[in-house]
Amino acid sequence: MTGTFVDRAVSNPEQTSVSLFLRRWLANPLRMGSVVPSSRTLCNHVVRCGWPEPGGVVLELGAGTGVISRAFLEAGLPAERLVTVEIDPNLADHLRGTLSGVEVLECDARQLADHLPARFRGRITSVVCGIPLVLLPVAEQKRFIDGMEGVAPGRGFIHFSYCATSPLPARKHGLTAKREAWTPLNIPPASVWRYKPG
Ligand SMILES: C[S@@+](CC[C@H](N)C(=O)[O-])C[C@H]1O[C@@H](n2cnc3c(N)ncnc32)[C@H](O)[C@@H]1O
Repeated sequence: MTGTFVDRAVSNPEQTSVSLFLRRWLANPLRMGSVVPSSRTLCNHVVRCGWPEPGGVVLELGAGTGVISRAFLEAGLPAERLVTVEIDPNLADHLRGTLSGVEVLECDARQLADHLPARFRGRITSVVCGIPLVLLPVAEQKRFIDGMEGVAPGRGFIHFSYCATSPLPARKHGLTAKREAWTPLNIPPASVWRYKPG
């Protein structure tokens, strides 16, 4: 059993999610950034770090097959307080079919402000970003950061990454960076970072 030494991905139904993820990675490796969905341990760290204020909405960018979304729901977040964003139409279809009651936005996170329904505006208190920003030039990273700031001003965001150091040049973006968690048994090993304006 791989579960004895490798942290297994959390997904339900697990096999479907893993094979779908792999197929989408084969189609667009740079945009996916990882070969398999985040592990249960990584999801749990992200949920702990990204838990919203009472009554607040969580915005998840780059939801993939929805493992982090499901971890939020399993931890007790009401589905109507979760918004997921996914650019890949196949993955967005999968999210719509498996995340009952969750708002799934099929769009580019850089154009988030044009797609976010009015009922969520002013209510997002936590942003989680799983998009592989480290692979992008600084100017492109800024477009994503500006998009998040536009819908959740002053909140900053949680970002997980497979880098040993900060995946974003925080100072260049006017952010502070703090590594909140590290999961060596994720594939690949991952860190959870908190970025805040200032
Ligand atoms: C590393 S995967 C993370 C998936 C999932 N959150 C997980 O933890 O397993 C990155 C995801 O971001 C999505 N993505 C990449 N660029 C995007 C963009 N510009 N807008 C929205 N989603 C994007 C990819 O399609 C992919 O599903």
